[in-house]
Amino acid sequence: YRVYVPSDTTAKALGADRLAASIDALAHEMGDPLEIRRNGTRALYWLEPLIEVDTPEGRYGFGPVKERDLESLFAVEFWKGEVDHPLALGLVEEIPYLKRQQRLTFARAGVIDPLSLDDYKAHGGYRGLDNALALEPQVIVDAVKESGLRGRGGAAFPTGIKWQTVLNAPADQKYIVCNADEGDSGTFADRLVMECDPFMLIEGMTIAGLAVGATQGYIYLRSEYPLAQKNLNAAIETAYANNLLGENILGSGQRFDLEVRLGAGAYICGEETSLLESLEGKRGLVRAKPPLPAIVGLFGKPTVVNNVLSLAAVPFILDRGAKAYADCGMGRSRGTLPFQLAGNVKQGGLVELAFGPTLRELMFEFGGGTRNGRALRAVQVGGPLGAYLPESQWDTPLDYEAFAKIGAVLGHGGVVMFDDTVDMGEQARFSMEFCVAESCGKCTPCRIGSTRGVEVIDRIRAGENVEGNLELLSDLCETMVDGSLCAMGGMTPFPVQSAMKHFGEDFVKHTSDAQ
Ligand code: NAI
Ligand code: SF4
Repeated sequence: YRVYVPSDTTAKALGADRLAASIDALAHEMGDPLEIRRNGTRALYWLEPLIEVDTPEGRYGFGPVKERDLESLFAVEFWKGEVDHPLALGLVEEIPYLKRQQRLTFARAGVIDPLSLDDYKAHGGYRGLDNALALEPQVIVDAVKESGLRGRGGAAFPTGIKWQTVLNAPADQKYIVCNADEGDSGTFADRLVMECDPFMLIEGMTIAGLAVGATQGYIYLRSEYPLAQKNLNAAIETAYANNLLGENILGSGQRFDLEVRLGAGAYICGEETSLLESLEGKRGLVRAKPPLPAIVGLFGKPTVVNNVLSLAAVPFILDRGAKAYADCGMGRSRGTLPFQLAGNVKQGGLVELAFGPTLRELMFEFGGGTRNGRALRAVQVGGPLGAYLPESQWDTPLDYEAFAKIGAVLGHGGVVMFDDTVDMGEQARFSMEFCVAESCGKCTPCRIGSTRGVEVIDRIRAGENVEGNLELLSDLCETMVDGSLCAMGGMTPFPVQSAMKHFGEDFVKHTSDAQ
């Protein structure tokens, strides 16, 4: 029988490689009745390392498994259908956390061996590309438009309209650039795609190339993801060896080449124009828009810059049809968003859901509340530039427009939870400090404003002219929102303003403590 041991970075950090080696040794002693497969991960992180075993009923889960559990675990006679063990979780697909999700993009995550092309194809892989090869570029672009897919990096711009702009731009060379510089706090969905299902991203980028007439793609990957780099490069090599990349894709006469390029650890290089500068070998300084990268992008040529998740959604759309994707969701938010539960959460992990449920449902029905059992007080959605939401806003549906209405963002789907010991004055200070560290320095409100912001917050917290300084902080935030060139300086005030509005008592707490 087969035993599946997860292989993504998180599972490895929790000892999955050591477990695999020990299981192998144990199997040898037992006369090799089992075969070890390294799957990606289901991303039910609180259960990792989650070991799966083939049984007559399906894949059965056990977790979290430690070295000391192995002997008792493999004393169970799985091949006879026995599954009794204190760590038994039941059939993996039936675990409610997983069963209640709508996994479209992450359907294969944790199921397949990430580097096996056969496994990928056996689970629907490359059917989207097969279809796309028979279609006119405009028909592919129309399918993406009809799916309602919007940019999953955070800005939620309609992907099909972006592709249309690039398709319409006349040029001798066009590019597809995948933004894999996943820098938002609490996020890991891009990493999971690349580590657990890299062919999906390659297929999505190839389809994008066919759609807009681009023959070269680059994946701009953050250097902090070495396993993603390894898996992507191995998958790209396999794709070339099987005519799925290169000058004559599946004998169609169409060409698409793909390379991985590494970033160097700057948050701002996730902003699309500084990413392009960095790809060109320059310092990651933000470019003014317009011109849009869709018209003047990499090396001055029309370029699609899409997040990993946007491109990863494309094979599904071309395989199952735009309608199948658009059927999920609410309002103008169609399809699914892979939410990532992190921070002080009991059941952290990936929750891919069609837009629509409330933030509260996500945090409690999936997340199970806080890890330490204390009351949940604040949650930051959409990365370090997202607003902090108090309990009165937790019933907001997970939908781009509903979040915009309360001055918040869904962003890239990162959800970071804080219990009632959080000091929101300190969190506001951190937002400004983060901007000081990560600003590209091009414009004054962001470069200087963030430094002044830290100073003003420090004065407020020290009890100096609190009222006057709070007013000054509000003014400064407005100036940064209105006067910054990009989202870094333009959105840094969101967490600060929301902390002041909803958790104002924390800004003066230290004053009253001191008195
Ligand atoms: P934006 O609203 O300026 O642009 C969105 C995208 O649409 C860009 O790719 C832009 O070039 C494109 N676009 C706009 N009009 C177009 C047109 N007419 N034709 C073709 N393309 C068009 O937003 P921006 O500055 O690119 O992104 C800001 C967002 O990034 C924030 O909302 C934030 O949530 C997110 N973000 C994500 C991070 C992550 O780690 N994923 C990190 C930091 C911020
Ligand atoms: Fe650079 Fe900040 Fe200006 Fe963006 S807002 S261009 S990061 S200085």
